[in-house]
Amino acid sequence: MEATTFVLFGATGDLARRKIYPALYNLFLDHKLNHSFSVIGLGRREVADEAFQAMVERSIRDFSRREVKDSASVRSFLKSFRYNVLDVGHTEDYKKLLQRVEQQEKRAGGSPNRMFYLSVGPEFFETIAFNIKQSGLGNAKGWKRLVIEKPFGHDLLSAQELNQKLSEAFTEEEIYRIDHYLGKPMVQELDVFQQSNPVLHALWNNRYISNVQITAAETVGVEERAGYYDHVGALRDMFQNHMLQLLMMLAIRLPKDSSPDEVRFKKKEVMEALESLDEGDVQFNVVRGQYTAGTIQGKPVQGYLSEPGIPAGSTNDTFIAARLQIDDPFWKDVPFYIRTGKRMKEKSTRIVIEFKEPLKQSSSAGENDIPNLLVFEISPNEGLTLQLKARDPQHKGKFKAMHIDFHTSSIEVPEAYENLIHDALHGDPSFFAHWNEVELSWKWVQPILNAFDKNTVPLHTYAAGSFGPAESDQLLAKKGHHWWLDT
Ligand code: BG6
Repeated sequence: MEATTFVLFGATGDLARRKIYPALYNLFLDHKLNHSFSVIGLGRREVADEAFQAMVERSIRDFSRREVKDSASVRSFLKSFRYNVLDVGHTEDYKKLLQRVEQQEKRAGGSPNRMFYLSVGPEFFETIAFNIKQSGLGNAKGWKRLVIEKPFGHDLLSAQELNQKLSEAFTEEEIYRIDHYLGKPMVQELDVFQQSNPVLHALWNNRYISNVQITAAETVGVEERAGYYDHVGALRDMFQNHMLQLLMMLAIRLPKDSSPDEVRFKKKEVMEALESLDEGDVQFNVVRGQYTAGTIQGKPVQGYLSEPGIPAGSTNDTFIAARLQIDDPFWKDVPFYIRTGKRMKEKSTRIVIEFKEPLKQSSSAGENDIPNLLVFEISPNEGLTLQLKARDPQHKGKFKAMHIDFHTSSIEVPEAYENLIHDALHGDPSFFAHWNEVELSWKWVQPILNAFDKNTVPLHTYAAGSFGPAESDQLLAKKGHHWWLDT
């Protein structure tokens, strides 16, 4: 591969320290960065190259999934890191940056590539893209790519406007929109399981599947992000992006050995087949919640309205549950239940597939009801469990659950950011959000945003440390279903 300069906007920020440097370090250890790969970190503060390298070293020591032992390899990794001061609004700073990039490229020779990584607030996205183009930084001899973090817009209109602005500087093929859930190893397995295993492939439809339950539960509250979170809520922060991406990845039916374009085309098809809600339907299909005080893992925690920085009387959603239907021949009449929330009982992202039970007459969950489930544990544990209904030999006439389990050790598995940065460097967009998906997701979510703004949907409370408001259970009970694995 030709030399690549990784130009990182927001180089002293939290995401860079927690995720990006550790990911680059692990790629380096796995020999997945080529020898003429270099990083130029950018930030508003003056920082000398040596101080920047020391910061990167601290970050990998604190956050790398592998323990940092070998100082020689750390030194060799850090050699490729440089720092430039840049104020995103100053055109002069981009010119200086261009000079530095060109100096490095001259040393490397060939047709070098430029990867621009925006790890900054969304208010800077357009300005940076514009200045990259204006300054000539966008005229790479090799390829150029833009990696961009969420949030991609605040609603449908702002997302469209942002995309329009970005497309003046980068083509769709050059834009890599990060959704870190797509980098999670188990999410990257979903299509393979379904495609390459004839058992799963045969069962992956409405003939055998009763319903699908996608949960992303978190124990943390708003943390120090009140200013951001109170304007977005769970719907924008998690649902519009991560949760709908999980739904797409589970529901796509891919031909064997699909190209990245086919993967994204099929995801778009899923979104197009998603039955849209109008504002009036929202209250029947969506539950909006906000946490009150409670106890999590033995520790008392305060309610959302008492969190520092949250305005009195805020109606922001910290929990969302929704029922969605995909109107295509595979999924018609299979409800997809999705929920996500802060301050829930446990940290767990999982997908539970409940199979139909051919001999069962009623679909209500009874005392001796043991469902046949396939569970994908996405994080923090990674694994797969098949739960089968079996006879209980000790209690005649009763059944019990039999489990077939597989779990991986997280140290061995690359982290989401390793997968994503690797793919972006290699020009594989399969696990990045295409504009079509982003736009269709906002279209689906927009009536819910409108209904929340107009307050036509009740705001239910739930105690911190629970699995959300009782109305979330009722949403499933209406169809005779039940959230599984809430223990
Ligand atoms: C981020 C959200 O995108 O995802 C956070 O902004 C959330 O609010 C985080 O905590 C959850 O990610 P993960 O990987 O810990 O499930």
